[in-house]
Amino acid sequence: MDEPSLRDIRTRVFIQEQNVPEALEWDDEDAQAQHFLARDPQGNAIGTARLLMHDGLAHIGRMAVLPTWRGQGVGRALLEAVVKAAQACGASNAFLNAQTTAVPFYERAGFAVEGAVFMDAGIPHLRMTRHW
Ligand code: COA
Repeated sequence: MDEPSLRDIRTRVFIQEQNVPEALEWDDEDAQAQHFLARDPQGNAIGTARLLMHDGLAHIGRMAVLPTWRGQGVGRALLEAVVKAAQACGASNAFLNAQTTAVPFYERAGFAVEGAVFMDAGIPHLRMTRHW
């Protein structure tokens, strides 16, 4: 995995754009996670996501697309790649903690909200799950 590229995207999107504290952005899960990178036709990294598998449970996280590339299907393609990987691991569903502003994006990809809003890194979130 191209670690400098995924660190660059997450730094720009989560730490700089969304003001997530650096200490919260990087966690122990990164070492165990399967990481994904979307690239433009020139090979530059433009989006990232990660998949954590815990006891057969698939947890998708850290979905980020660089601002100039949003609204062009990059996030959707990235998310589908992560879901395919979760399916390949034998999971029957996947969950994620969505920032409330991103809920419509995940709903379009077949995820449904579960439960109530909670705060994480100062940002409101909702848990969402997709079954297949
Ligand atoms: N609100 C409503 N709809 C949205 C949306 C939003 N915030 N973001 C995307 N969509 C819709 C698109 O219009 C598109 O709809 P369509 O199926 O009708 O064409 C669909 O979702 C797929 O969008 P896509 O272009 O693939 O998404 P993207 O590349 O812009 O990536 C994010 C979406 C959320 C990953 C991106 O906006 C991002 O990185 N945001 C900042 C970081 C972030 O909030 N990450 C989520 C953490 S939970």
